[in-house]
Amino acid sequence: MKKTKIAVFVSGGGTNLQALIDSEKIGALAHGEIVLVVSDKADAYALTRAKDNGIKTAVVVKKELGSQQAFEERLQRILEENGIEMIVLAGFMCILSADFTSKWPKRIINIHPSLIPSFCGKGCYGLHVHEKALAYGVKVTGATVHFVNEIPDGGEIIFQKPVAVLDGDTPEVLQKRVMEEAEWIILPKACEKVASEIVEKGDNYGRL
Ligand code: GAR
Repeated sequence: MKKTKIAVFVSGGGTNLQALIDSEKIGALAHGEIVLVVSDKADAYALTRAKDNGIKTAVVVKKELGSQQAFEERLQRILEENGIEMIVLAGFMCILSADFTSKWPKRIINIHPSLIPSFCGKGCYGLHVHEKALAYGVKVTGATVHFVNEIPDGGEIIFQKPVAVLDGDTPEVLQKRVMEEAEWIILPKACEKVASEIVEKGDNYGRL
């Protein structure tokens, strides 16, 4: 059976990458194959997870390339060289420009650790999201997987899952609960959904 060739973009620990790898191992990511992990940080632990699982890696550092355009051109070249058909942003802390995202319509998905449209957009990432949720005093938060377009965290929603905020939560405790109860479940599920749609609709689906 044909599988969608997936690149996972990471910047940090890579627990969401691990959830995707585990899902492929147990056959739940039946229509996708993680063939490449791309990091914008040379020391991201996610790279170790990829190597431990025999997945090819690439490091592309924006600062070294000097501009957003050069950064994205390098990313695009690596994706093309590896025949990538779909991109998963799994804790990738760079915003991609409209120039880049328009080349991949409905082919990039992102996991965000809140119920969009709450606590999202530019500057709202990682632990900050949970700090903001606690400061606001919401009693329910969660995670969202969405398609990526030119608006940060603004693309069509694929899945969301709510998670309770409990008395005494710190940002770290809440982050861990949101990962365990939502992110690591809905990201692999969304990845399989989109990968299977790409297989069904053929190579030109959604592409310019
Ligand atoms: C995850 O909580 C992910 O949702 C978040 O960063 C963390 C990465 O953890 N992403 C964003 O905030 C993107 N806006 P991980 O490296 O262990 O997967």
